[in-house]
Amino acid sequence: MEPSKEFVFNYKGFYFGVNTTLEYVSTLEDFEIKDSDIFIATYPKSGTVWTQNILSLIMNEGHRNGTENVENMDRIPWLEYNVKDMDYTKFPTPRTFATHLPYYLVPRGLRNKRGRIIYVSRNPKDVMVSYYHFSKYMTTLEEIPDFNLFMERFLAGKVLASSWLDHVSGWYSHAEDFNILFLTYEEMKKDLRSAVLKICNFIGKKLSEEEVDSVVRQATFENMRKDPRANYENLPDDIVAKDKGSFLRKGTVGDWKNIMTVAQNERFDEVLKDKIKTLPIKFIWDINDEM
Ligand code: A3P
Repeated sequence: MEPSKEFVFNYKGFYFGVNTTLEYVSTLEDFEIKDSDIFIATYPKSGTVWTQNILSLIMNEGHRNGTENVENMDRIPWLEYNVKDMDYTKFPTPRTFATHLPYYLVPRGLRNKRGRIIYVSRNPKDVMVSYYHFSKYMTTLEEIPDFNLFMERFLAGKVLASSWLDHVSGWYSHAEDFNILFLTYEEMKKDLRSAVLKICNFIGKKLSEEEVDSVVRQATFENMRKDPRANYENLPDDIVAKDKGSFLRKGTVGDWKNIMTVAQNERFDEVLKDKIKTLPIKFIWDINDEM
């Protein structure tokens, strides 16, 4: 049940996609951190692009008022997937990055509370379902058309970014080492404005009421879907199968109920439920659940 080497490689127990290299990722622990750096860290499909858009809107007036046409991916590039071979050392400060790295592979300089990290998690059933659909869309991911099989791979951590549980529990249990803000996809969905304010507060950015309104408006699912700076629609055809999906697919809480059978749900719970209970997060499994 190992993932195909055509799509991933293993470095220190973590699966990376092949659009980066072992040589490069092994340099990242020494990547030099500046105190002003801001990272968005996530397990895939947990709301990374959404948070990228929010952060970019908060930080860049030209994004907010529409005078600049820079894609989020260029403003907040992926640390470990530097596909455009950009020189991150020359980026203007504060630099912003997105990453799927586990806590133990991020640049060492982030420890001792240097730089800032926004860690976003999402209920793992929705993560898994989102990931399943995404694997059909991204040609760089191994497509596993059988959902049951995909679920087993996900539960075993045999997918790009490895185990969801290890990722989330690793970041939470090492929170003390980092200057970190924890958010969940579901809280962003329930109250986007509060999440925006939390991020502003965390990065020390003061926005007016109107500016916050503008960020919230432009970060809704419907508006992001229409915004080429935010929706990743310009990815080249050799990376994505445009007829098979999109980065912004459904954007809801509880979509897992539309695909998982009762038996699959039981199997999922059997593997993860007790372990999830040990995490200091109360996951929202349905949009009608209490926070
Ligand atoms: P779905 O596949 O469930 O729709 P990531 O960016 O980490 O890959 O996460 C992708 C998930 O975030 C997708 O979930 C996508 O639709 C959702 N998403 C992106 N922007 C969003 C927004 N503004 N509001 C709600 N969900 C959003």
